[in-house]
Amino acid sequence: MQLRIRRARVLDGGDMVDVHVEDGHVSAVERHSTDAPERLADLEIDAAGGLVRPPFVEPHIHLDATLTAGEPRWNASGTLWEGIAVWSERKPSVTREDVLARAEQVLRWQAAQGVLFVRSHCDVTDPELTALDALLELRERVRDVVTLQVVAFPQEGIVSFPRGAELLEEAIRRGADVVGAIPHFEDTREDGVRSLEIAVDIAQRHGCGIDAHCDEIDDEQSRFVEVLATLAMRTGLGERVTASHTTAMGSYNGAYAYKLQRLLMRSQINLVSNPMVNLALQGRFDDYPKRRGLTRVKEMLAAGVNVAFGSDDVMDPWFPLGTGSPMQLAHSGVLAAQMTGQEEIAETFEMVSTRAARVLGLGDGYGVQPGRPASLVVLPASSRMDAVRRQVAPQWVVAGGDLVAERTPSPVRLHWLGDEHAIDFVRDADAEEATWRDASIVARPGR
Ligand code: FE2
Repeated sequence: MQLRIRRARVLDGGDMVDVHVEDGHVSAVERHSTDAPERLADLEIDAAGGLVRPPFVEPHIHLDATLTAGEPRWNASGTLWEGIAVWSERKPSVTREDVLARAEQVLRWQAAQGVLFVRSHCDVTDPELTALDALLELRERVRDVVTLQVVAFPQEGIVSFPRGAELLEEAIRRGADVVGAIPHFEDTREDGVRSLEIAVDIAQRHGCGIDAHCDEIDDEQSRFVEVLATLAMRTGLGERVTASHTTAMGSYNGAYAYKLQRLLMRSQINLVSNPMVNLALQGRFDDYPKRRGLTRVKEMLAAGVNVAFGSDDVMDPWFPLGTGSPMQLAHSGVLAAQMTGQEEIAETFEMVSTRAARVLGLGDGYGVQPGRPASLVVLPASSRMDAVRRQVAPQWVVAGGDLVAERTPSPVRLHWLGDEHAIDFVRDADAEEATWRDASIVARPGR
């Protein structure tokens, strides 16, 4: 199929371009010109000055637990710890069909919102590995639309859970893509360090990356990210290693944080912050003043560390809300990490797209450039900041040259002081320099 996307912008305020797609790949990105010779396409999309961007990337979600909020009971305290306890009560009723149905539902939500690359953690502290097998099956089933990476995640520990290390390695043998860990949950600090050594050993022997839940606690003494970064550096695993959450970093003293920042830079590891869930779960043991419970997002970005934002939970024992929307996530990140500068807001857009793509190691498989797979989103937004502010969903989503989702704008009819207005974020279709205007108001004659 041939596809052409006309009058799109790759960059905020950049020139309008036409993107040509042939046989599933981007064949050309040309400056838009009305004089350009007509090329025939099977499908033509008029972006009308909106953004064309590579798909959004979800670097951290738990699809095995998703859509189980309230089962078998609600998390009354709202703590991470009660969430783990509720999930361990739900686990015995996990079946293949149960996981497939819930996980695919959320992937559909995400695909509709332009998320075509997803890294999901999957609890492997289950002697049967039922959920893991289901997610590996789903990974193959959806691969033409969504690229799913599965992390073998030892929710209840590697050292502290019976046969934890064995189950983790068995999960990798069955086909999980990435090795997980949860050092701060292990019984002792030494067990935590040992658990990371085991994870690194498994990753090296199987040629996998690592994505560890690391220091997801308000305890300023929880310092496993330094262990993970050091192991990443010494083994050469480097950028294939990710420390997720690292919320304790929000409680470290300045002197230690400075030392750590230098280590993280040298190690090349990635950080994933989950702003909505971290804000909701952390600080629960604090009186006032109450900590925000986020890692040092701005400081680490400024130091050159790659930081991405993840959803973590969508309607599960840890977080009862969530829609899987990348723009809602970026918007929450702006608030949680206080990234309200103009460039900072634009950066939060990158944290749910290009920066998250680095976490997943997507390399040349990602990006709207000639020769790369034609997976992209067309956003009715004038800039990244505009997209984040209005939490815009893509009007078109394309995966490997095929149309995955299309959205019809639905204006609101406002009856306002005797006049009638159609309020929409509509395109200025007639202008050559078309743009998406926010809240373009079309006044109609009074009734
Ligand atoms: Fe998580």
